[in-house]
Amino acid sequence: MTMSPSTSHTPVPLLRFENFQVAFARGPAVRGLDLSVHRGEALGIVGESGSGKSITWLAALGLLGSAARISGRVLFEGQDLLGMTPKALARLRGGRIALISQDPMSALNPVKRVGHQVAEVLRLHRGMQDA
Ligand SMILES: Nc1ncnc2c1ncn2[C@@H]1O[C@H](COP(=O)(O)OP(=O)(O)O)[C@@H](O)[C@H]1O
Ligand SMILES: [Mg+2]
Repeated sequence: MTMSPSTSHTPVPLLRFENFQVAFARGPAVRGLDLSVHRGEALGIVGESGSGKSITWLAALGLLGSAARISGRVLFEGQDLLGMTPKALARLRGGRIALISQDPMSALNPVKRVGHQVAEVLRLHRGMQDA
């Protein structure tokens, strides 16, 4: 899959995937994704269920377990997310890059208050204090 939006304004894209691959023990899930998104652009990725949309972002943001083999490059403002320390990645995740799950019933932890979970990103990245 190769996608290059036609309106490129800056030499360095906001986000760029280069030959990005994700594989599990039973085989490949994402085979060589290349795409660029420049500041101000919106990109929609459409594909059938199981085609690798969710896995792509979970892997790029360091949210897949060790069972996945991930390769290629995911450059955010020129910095490779795949080579970042967990601490550096945690600063970006939720601060500069947000992943919004399509299934809130499984994304929210049922044993923790919803308000606490929704506000977590604001506590971690915007200095909000607990009420
Ligand atoms: N933890 C996992 N172990 C093995 N295969 C997985 C795992 N998670 C997802 N997959 C497989 O990766 C592929 C892509 O899944 P996914 O990214 O969820 O698709 P989409 O979001 O496009 O519907 C699917 O074939 C799925 O079965
Ligand atoms: Mg999905």
